[in-house]
Amino acid sequence: MITHMQHNPSMFGFRASKLLLSVLFLIQLLSTQLLAQRSKSPWQTLTGKAPRVIARGGFSGLFPDSSLNAYNFVAPTSAPNTVLWCDVQLTKDGVGICFPSVTMYNASNVQDAYPKKKNSYLLNGVPTQDWFTIDFTSKDLQTVFLIRGVLSRSDAYDNNQNVISTVQEIATQLKKPKGFWLNVQHDAFYTQHNLSISSFLLTVSKTVIIDYISSPEVSFFRNIRFGKTRPKFVFRFLDKDEVEVSTNQTYGSLMKNLTFIKTFASGVLVPKSYIWPVKDQYLLPHTSFVKDAHRAGLEVYASGFANDFDIAYNYSYDPLAEYLSFMDNGDFSVDGFLSDFPLTASSAVDCFSHLGSNASTQVDFLVISKNGASGDYPGCTDLAYSKAIKDGADVIDCSVQMSSDGVPFCLNSIDLVESTNIIQSPFKNRSATVPEFNSLAGLYSFNLAWSEIQTLTPAITNPYNGGFKMFRNPRERSSGKLVTLSQFLNFTKNSSSLVGVLINVEHAAYLREKQGLDIVKAVLDTLKESGYSKRVMIQSSNSSVLVDIKKHSRYETVYEVEETIRDILDSAIQDIKTFADAVVFKKLSVYPVSASFITGQTNLVERLQKKFKLPVYVETFRNEFVSQAWDFFSDATVELNTHVTLAGVSGTITEFPLTAARYKRNRCVAREDTPPYMIPIQPAGLLEIASPTSLPPAEAPNPVFTDADVTEPPLPPVIARASATSPGPLSTDQKAPNGQARVALSLLLSALSMVLASLLLLL
Ligand SMILES: *[C@@H]1O[C@H](CO)[C@@H](O)[C@H](O)[C@H]1NC(C)=O
Ligand SMILES: *[C@@H]1O[C@H](CO)[C@@H](O)[C@H](O)[C@H]1NC(C)=O
Ligand SMILES: *[C@@H]1O[C@H](CO)[C@@H](O)[C@H](O)[C@H]1NC(C)=O
Ligand SMILES: *[C@@H]1O[C@H](CO)[C@@H](O)[C@H](O)[C@H]1NC(C)=O
Ligand SMILES: *[C@@H]1O[C@H](CO)[C@@H](O)[C@H](O)[C@H]1NC(C)=O
Ligand SMILES: *[C@@H]1O[C@H](CO)[C@@H](O)[C@H](O)[C@H]1NC(C)=O
Ligand SMILES: *[C@@H]1O[C@H](CO)[C@@H](O)[C@H](O)[C@H]1NC(C)=O
Ligand SMILES: *[C@@H]1O[C@H](CO)[C@@H](O)[C@H](O)[C@H]1NC(C)=O
Ligand SMILES: *[C@@H]1O[C@H](CO)[C@@H](O)[C@H](O)[C@H]1NC(C)=O
Ligand SMILES: *[C@@H]1O[C@H](CO)[C@@H](O)[C@H](O)[C@H]1NC(C)=O
Repeated sequence: MITHMQHNPSMFGFRASKLLLSVLFLIQLLSTQLLAQRSKSPWQTLTGKAPRVIARGGFSGLFPDSSLNAYNFVAPTSAPNTVLWCDVQLTKDGVGICFPSVTMYNASNVQDAYPKKKNSYLLNGVPTQDWFTIDFTSKDLQTVFLIRGVLSRSDAYDNNQNVISTVQEIATQLKKPKGFWLNVQHDAFYTQHNLSISSFLLTVSKTVIIDYISSPEVSFFRNIRFGKTRPKFVFRFLDKDEVEVSTNQTYGSLMKNLTFIKTFASGVLVPKSYIWPVKDQYLLPHTSFVKDAHRAGLEVYASGFANDFDIAYNYSYDPLAEYLSFMDNGDFSVDGFLSDFPLTASSAVDCFSHLGSNASTQVDFLVISKNGASGDYPGCTDLAYSKAIKDGADVIDCSVQMSSDGVPFCLNSIDLVESTNIIQSPFKNRSATVPEFNSLAGLYSFNLAWSEIQTLTPAITNPYNGGFKMFRNPRERSSGKLVTLSQFLNFTKNSSSLVGVLINVEHAAYLREKQGLDIVKAVLDTLKESGYSKRVMIQSSNSSVLVDIKKHSRYETVYEVEETIRDILDSAIQDIKTFADAVVFKKLSVYPVSASFITGQTNLVERLQKKFKLPVYVETFRNEFVSQAWDFFSDATVELNTHVTLAGVSGTITEFPLTAARYKRNRCVAREDTPPYMIPIQPAGLLEIASPTSLPPAEAPNPVFTDADVTEPPLPPVIARASATSPGPLSTDQKAPNGQARVALSLLLSALSMVLASLLLLL
């Protein structure tokens, strides 16, 4: 277990000030040379230098776009040469401000401040109704505050009175950013209203260093004049079928004339789909755009990067994977990324690019799959398991279920409705009501023979299809075959990278007593027959199962604490230690949350591991940003890093093993001077700077786990099944496969209610 983070004295005892956002990351910047020091450049950028990160409106994925908070948060979280992007707008009195758009409704409270100032203008020929910056003087705007423009983001910073800043103020308050990029989206519009961006720029450039200027209007570049230090001019491409106002050509046709662009610009900024086009949210082969532009001598900056939307299925909801495909694909690299989450972009460039297939492990913990790579394929299928192995899981898992004829096989749940198409099969009339599991009827595995179960089509799990409409790999939603425990073990034998298997055993008492099926014996016999020689862990949430396993075998045992808890009695840990070699906790038992913000860190992991020498594994890690607390910046790697380096967990149980296995090999985590984007988050740090009015009242604390929670009566003997369970009518609730864990559901609901609340605010 690596613990160097905890040894850093500056990690603790630091009193956060509400204004100094930098406290959230406690170690400051890495030296600038790191990126430059590469002797032989691996980068296929135009210059051979690493791609630049450009923070759109600051860290706008977290704080309101263009707010000082958002700009201030870039330096303590991102690569030292990250460029700050400002969308320049002009006010009625010709003052240049940083604001995401010339229309103001979307990202500010202007509607509340000036309810009557809604106006209508032609914007690029389109009649547009909104509040326009040109209708307000800079003084008028002092009572308007910035809010988030993307509703799926947290509203916790919308009530912080985020003032609108002038370009001058941003440049001076941030003390010489390492790069300043001004984007001028609507020069022609301002000209029509007798306001001049060019003369504003000429004036401001006397006191402010501008490194880049971009615009989607050709005429803008023709007309602007600068003194002796001229910024880089970057022509911005919009969607291919949009028309460029000064040439009356579509961007799609201008794209074919890059030598023309080169006559007035040194770079281009393009939507990411120019490079990796997408159809039905799946990637198509990449275009030759980057190479063509490089050949024409143009740098290529790509836009549209955010951790929380617009990501192709091919990336499995992992934003790092997306960045890597634009810069580490063996063919080309873009020269920069325009991102709302500059931390993730920085981490991709510095820690994860060009790792190669041989990069060694930098941080020691077990990557344990959850139903195989169930984020990519239907869980517990041959495809999910082989993907998990290929992705670098150390341990793959089988949740064992029993068929009526006593064949142990792997499936997430004893109820086949959750992860197969049984509802559409001839076996839908096998339903039964088992009060021990559910008051509603289910289609249970022990009512079908293995030969019947084999004919079912597996179904991918979509935990966030409800409120968020987030689906997993729809093209593979019914792919793969279910496997028996024996096939599962056979499958793993061949892999050299696997450390072992984790076999989960539940409902043992019920199966023995009511179904005449001995799941414990079936598992032990299958293990013995298979001659499996690697590490075997047997997991259960029922202590009696593990006590029984210990009695009959020497396999490692893992006790799962299903409840979300805040503490556990020493005496309970002593009990657990008598039958378990490791413990599994829910994520929320380590970092509890309120309104999806982390409220602190329990000492469960440290106590179990240090005092009682019981390794702790934590579940369930997912890539979808809605599964994570806001504190992790919608970045699954930040969440993993915090659990591993700050909490010190010994293993992570994940539906996306690729992300965890890749994190393990990143080149930043073991660096002496850990860069800010690979430092764990400060628990409760974000909550501290949220405005209290946006937060719900504190929730009741989670319970404490006691001896009584651990102790169970011994397993009952096997009682032969008298007759088949009588079929009952199937509940109408059970329509579609849906395997939602309790924790995920509560997170989902809280995040969902935030989205709803914010919708109401804006209406
Ligand atoms: C608001 O702004 C965000 C971010 O710039 C953008 O994604 C979104 O589409 C805008 N919404 C509207 C209604 O314009
Ligand atoms: C801009 O100025 C011209 C000439 O001074 C004037 O005719 C025109 O009405 C002005 N346009 C606007 C939108 O103010
Ligand atoms: C722009 O081009 C379109 C078709 O290419 C044409 O119909 C239109 O008249 C043009 N507009 C101007 C102002 O030249
Ligand atoms: C490129 O654009 C310029 C300016 O619009 C034009 O003169 C030239 O013919 C174009 N070349 C091609 C190949 O379209
Ligand atoms: C993206 O995924 C789809 C479906 O699996 C696949 O057909 C396509 O080739 C992938 N695209 C790339 C660029 O790998
Ligand atoms: C990986 O390491 C092996 C053995 O050390 C070596 O033979 C191989 O060339 C390496 N592959 C890459 C891609 O570096
Ligand atoms: C269930 O349906 C199948 C045909 O779909 C039928 O053969 C079988 O007898 C039915 N079983 C019961 C218990 O109704
Ligand atoms: C185990 O895998 C091998 C191929 O590697 C196959 O020939 C054999 O039939 C498998 N055994 C079982 C029980 O599936
Ligand atoms: C095991 O590996 C060998 C060689 O890599 C391969 O030919 C064989 O199909 C594999 N068997 C299984 C069950 O994956
Ligand atoms: C655990 O197993 C025992 C039998 O050993 C059983 O009586 C008890 O109900 C089980 N507990 C749970 C929570 O299922």
